[in-house]
Amino acid sequence: MNYKAAVITASDSGWAGEREDLSGPAARELLEQAGYQVVHCALLPDDRAMLARELARLCDTDTAALVVTTGGTGFSPRDCTPEATMDVVERPTPGIPEAMRAESARITNRAMLSRAAAGIRKQTLIVNLPGSPKAVRESLACILPALEHGLDILRGNAHNCAAPDPARQVCENQRGEKS
Ligand code: MTE
Repeated sequence: MNYKAAVITASDSGWAGEREDLSGPAARELLEQAGYQVVHCALLPDDRAMLARELARLCDTDTAALVVTTGGTGFSPRDCTPEATMDVVERPTPGIPEAMRAESARITNRAMLSRAAAGIRKQTLIVNLPGSPKAVRESLACILPALEHGLDILRGNAHNCAAPDPARQVCENQRGEKS
């Protein structure tokens, strides 16, 4: 399935034109490499109401099956992407950020500082990623192999989980372990 995806970047400095955002383009590149059709990218300030409105709009108009956000998951007073996400999510999917943090903790112990959230609204999955391009790449590399199966189930394109799990093999190969 070539699902549609959207990328929303939360960054006050990017919004103000003070810093070039590299995290959104990194997410876009990885999503396209994974076969997603990236139909929408936007840069917004770290504003909870604006982010929530845009996330809800993308879900309610079925613009994309997957919406990834970059940035705003940390401890800065303005960081509010997880709160905006949970404002609009109907069904949380905590396993996704848990897996991202667990896998990222193998790379940096600062992975625990990301408050990233994820969840489903209608037929769209929203996943928060941290804001550095490096963190975007590492986090997406971990979750992308499993996401497609989740989207298949969410969208009624698969009805059971009995099929072999190629994602497990990918994760283990990334770690240089035998499957
Ligand atoms: N996850 C991965 N995979 N790689 C990283 O380098 N950086 C961490 C964390 N998650 C990091 C990571 C750091 S330093 C922070 S502060 C948090 O993500 C939050 O990032 P954000 O505020 O840009 O969203």
